Amino acid sequence: MKVITSRENLRHYRSMLLTEGGTVGFVPTMGALHQGHLSLLDAAALVSDHVIVSIFVNPTQFNDPNDLRNYPRNLEKDLALLAGQGKTAAVFAPEVEDIYPEPDLRRFDFGPLEKVMEGAHRPGHFNGVAQVVSKLFNIVEPHKAFFGEKDFQQLAVIRQLVLQEQSKIEIVPCPIIRESDGLAMSSRNVLLSVEERLHAAHISGILFKARELRRTMKVDLLTEWVVRQLNNDPFLKVEYFQIVDDKTLMPVDSWTQSGGKQGCVAVKIGKVRLIDNIKFD
Ligand code: PAJ
Repeated sequence: MKVITSRENLRHYRSMLLTEGGTVGFVPTMGALHQGHLSLLDAAALVSDHVIVSIFVNPTQFNDPNDLRNYPRNLEKDLALLAGQGKTAAVFAPEVEDIYPEPDLRRFDFGPLEKVMEGAHRPGHFNGVAQVVSKLFNIVEPHKAFFGEKDFQQLAVIRQLVLQEQSKIEIVPCPIIRESDGLAMSSRNVLLSVEERLHAAHISGILFKARELRRTMKVDLLTEWVVRQLNNDPFLKVEYFQIVDDKTLMPVDSWTQSGGKQGCVAVKIGKVRLIDNIKFD
């Protein structure tokens, strides 16, 4: 497994890998890797000849400077984990100056997609995600790129980005990987205290119960129920819970409305902000 820090070396290594043809699967990450990230790697390795993983904590997508400062970083441990998997051809771990030799002034327009949920609560977040993903796509030039459904809205934004950039990269969605108590795996989970970590499991627990109640409750009542249940836990503070169309991400007001439906939530536990989502069928 090759560890590469400059874009020139990555480009060079990529063309070497592909001298005899084949495909590149790309897994972009911000490191502090866990089984959720590794599941993307597995998915990529299944359908690609070569897998490239990036590890880069992208400053432009953090709307909260404290969040950027506290974001867990452990490159050594990440590299050991990836080397142990034996599925990664190269890890691209650039410095901020390599990705942003000058400030990226691009302003993307994802319309209503970026105005709801995470977009509304984290101004500029998706613009930063789009900046870095478009740069990484240009450097890595993958055939397929793998993204987790854990970040449901991010996935929708990336699909839109690829359309807008008329890119041929295939975006492959991967299911949420959870801890044994249901908590969606996240790099930020390590920031929770022992007590907070126990309460964090209520988030998915309540989402699972909501899925069961779907047959007996209207959308607005179920939405209120979820918010109430979450806020009943003194450790949890709901930022939003919404049941949305899984393509447009616009709120749905009736179960009879056509299209898939996803319940998306953001919750604060102490200083840590967690997101999760669930499919309502
Ligand atoms: P990061 O939070 O490190 O996540 C990298 C990828 O792993 C994303 O596609 C995310 O959805 C996926 N992922 C995280 N937790 C997961 C879980 N429990 N199950 C399945 N997939 C999971 O998302 C980012 O980084 C950044 O925004 C990035 C796309 C790299 C751009 O900077």
